[in-house]
Order: sequence, then C-alpha cells, then structure tokens
Amino acid sequence: MSNINGASVLITGANRGIGRALVDEALQRGARRVYAGTRVDLSHSDERVVPVTLDVTDPAQIQRAVTEIESLDVLVNNAGIALYDDLSDRTVLERHFAVNVHGTNDVIHASLPLLVRAQGSVVNILSVNALAPLPMIPSYSISKAAAFNLTQSLRLLLAPQGVTVHAVLTGPVDTDMSRGLDIPKASPESVAKAVFDGVERGEAEIFPDSLSAMLRESWNAGASKALEAQYAEMVANVPAEA
Ligand SMILES: NC(=O)c1ccc[n+]([C@@H]2O[C@H](COP(=O)([O-])OP(=O)(O)OC[C@H]3O[C@@H](n4cnc5c(N)ncnc54)[C@H](OP(=O)(O)O)[C@@H]3O)[C@@H](O)[C@H]2O)c1
Repeated sequence: MSNINGASVLITGANRGIGRALVDEALQRGARRVYAGTRVDLSHSDERVVPVTLDVTDPAQIQRAVTEIESLDVLVNNAGIALYDDLSDRTVLERHFAVNVHGTNDVIHASLPLLVRAQGSVVNILSVNALAPLPMIPSYSISKAAAFNLTQSLRLLLAPQGVTVHAVLTGPVDTDMSRGLDIPKASPESVAKAVFDGVERGEAEIFPDSLSAMLRESWNAGASKALEAQYAEMVANVPAEA
C-alpha cells in the first residue's frame, strides 16, 4: 500500500486531462516529487514538479526518462489515445496498442528497478471499456481490455518483488478525449482524488467515478476475481526454485 505523502511519483501524459489533475492531486497530498511525463513543453509553479520528456512509444525516451528519476514510489500510467473506428483498418488497432498497451508495459519494465527498490506501486489508468466495449471505439476498448489483462498479470508477476499493481477502471471523464460524447462525465479532479484514495487504501481495482462505481461490488464478488485469487495462490505456492 502506497502513501502519496512524501512519495516520488511519475505520471505519464501529465500535461492535460486526467494526467494534469493527477499531478495537482499528488502535490495536494504532499508528494515529495512529481515527475510529469510530457511530449510538449510543460511548466508548473510548484518546484516539486519535474517535467520529463516522455513519449511512451519511444524506447530511447523511456530509458532517458528513467535515468532522470532518482527514486520512484508510484508510477501512474495515464498516457492514452482513443480514436473512433470500426475495426476495418488494422493500423488504428496497432496505434492504440502502441500507446495503451506496449507503452504502458515498456514504461513499467524500464521503471522496475526503481519500483522494486522503493517497494512501490504501479497504477494503470484503464477504462470501463476494458469490461464492456463501446461500439464507436472498439480498437480503444480492445486495447484497454488487453491493458487490464496485462495489469492482472503484472500484479501476480511483481508481487514477489514487493511491487503492487492497481487497475483504474474509469468511466467517462470531462477531458479532450471524451469531447465528442454527449453524456454525463466526472471531472478530472474528482477522478484524480479517487485514484489516489484507492491507491492509499490498497484497492486492486479502483472505480473512480459514479458510473464505474456501480461495477465495484459485482466485480469484487465476481467469478473473474475469484479465479484471479486462485491463480495468485497458485503462484504463491510455487517453490522458489521452480
Ligand atoms: N476521458 C475519459 O472519458 C476517459 C475514460 C476512461 C479512461 N480514460 C483514460 O484516462 C487516460 C487519460 O485520458 P484523458 O481523458 O486525460 O485524455 P486526454 O485529455 O486526451 O489526454 C491524453 C494524454 O495522453 C498523452 N499521450 C497520448 N499519446 C502519448 C504518447 N505516445 N506518449 C506520451 N503521452 C501520450 C497526451 O499527450 P499529448 O498532449 O502530447 O497528446 C495527453 O497528455 C487515458 O489512458 C484514457 O484512456 C479516459
């Protein structure tokens, strides 16, 4: 369980939307340092914020970013893209995977030595569309489902190294990404608060808004969660030399 007070936090896609709200929420909670991953120039009035050039699809930038970070307690994989499509063009699916799946995985693996040293946490900003695809954005939904599965695998794989992994199953939020959707949306600030509340409570799955919160109870009591717990037990019982 990670406490944000006094922590060093890296947030990808920190220049706008949910990422920017996460930066401010981490500062509000007393983070010692907030590394703000960005592809554009970013400045912040709080001297605890350190902008880090980070396109999550660029392996060289990921490596360079990690060397700029002295210590890391919490990594928030927030960077993401969502494009409208109908699955007729595989390049659209590939673009989603490049950012939402491979980008997330690559940043985690590059940061792992730092996270293990701190016994820290990974927080992946996913979507309720990982569980129920939205027909206008099927490629996005597939990529978030894959990223959710990746999150569940990493939770089991990294537990023996003392790193916890959280999935944030977010509903609609009022940012550039959802501008075309005329539906009720949560504010980025309220979502950022709920994300760190969930991290500090040690919740494996975080449902940070009123729409996603409707899934919490059934998810936690459901068959998938029970199976995940069985698999976790299986891993815990494997002898170290196997
Ligand atoms: N808004 C929603 O309704 C909603 C719902 C569920 C989940 N989410 C998830 O929440 C996260 C944040 O979304 P948002 O709503 O804040 O969207 P947003 O306002 O569109 O912001 C997306 C952020 O991701 C960054 N990004 C995109 N591609 C990147 C790359 N290759 N490398 C590094 N950064 C990259 C963007 O940077 P640039 O400014 O440089 O493009 C921007 O900072 C995403 O993972 C999204 O899937 C959002």
